[in-house]
Amino acid sequence: MVALAGVVLGSHLVDPPPALHTAAQFVHLACVVLGLGSVLAVDWLGLRWQLGRATLREVVSTAAALAVPIWLGLSGLMLSGMLLSPDYESTITLVKLAMVGVAGVVGVLALAVSRRLAARTSPSRRLLRAGLLMAATSQLAWWTATVIGFLNRT
Ligand code: HEM
Repeated sequence: MVALAGVVLGSHLVDPPPALHTAAQFVHLACVVLGLGSVLAVDWLGLRWQLGRATLREVVSTAAALAVPIWLGLSGLMLSGMLLSPDYESTITLVKLAMVGVAGVVGVLALAVSRRLAARTSPSRRLLRAGLLMAATSQLAWWTATVIGFLNRT
C-alpha cells in the first residue's frame, strides 16, 4: 500500500516524454504477461488439485516457485503505470488502483497461507478455505485491473 501511494505521488511529479511513455506502455504489457501469467499458473494448478489431478504439495511448490515473477510483474506494473500519466479524476482508474492494492495485499496474505500449508501434512478446512478465497479474490483483482487498463488504453 505504501508502494502504491508512492506510485500516485510519483505520477504527479513526473512528466515523461512521448518516447518514455511508449516504452512504459510496452513494459506495462510485458509485466501483465509476467504477473498475471504466473498468478494464472498457480491458480490453474489449484484448480487441478480441486479436480483431483494434482496434489496440494504441487500447488504449494508452484506457488513458491512463481512468487518472484508474480512480485516482479506487480512491481513492474506499478513502476511503468506511474509513467503512463494515470487520470485520477476517472472513477474506473480509482477502481483499478484499489484492485492493484487488493492484488498486493492478497499476495502478501497468500504467502503466509502457503507457508502454513507447506508446513502441514493435513491442513485444516479453514486454511484450505482461506487459500481458495484468496485465489478467487486475486483473480478478480488482476482481471478487473486488466480490463480497466484495456478500457483506459490510448
Ligand atoms: C495489477 C496491476 C495492473 C494491471 C493488470 C494493469 C493492466 C493494464 C493493461 C492491460 C493496460 C492496457 C495496455 C494497452 O492495451 O496498451 C493498462 C494500461 C494502463 N495502465 Fe495498467 N495495469 C496495472 C497497474 C497499473 C498501475 C499501478 C497504474 C498506475 C497508477 C496503471 C496505469 C495505467 C494507465 C495510465 C494505462 C493506459 C496507458 C495508455 O494507453 O496510455 N496500471 N494497464
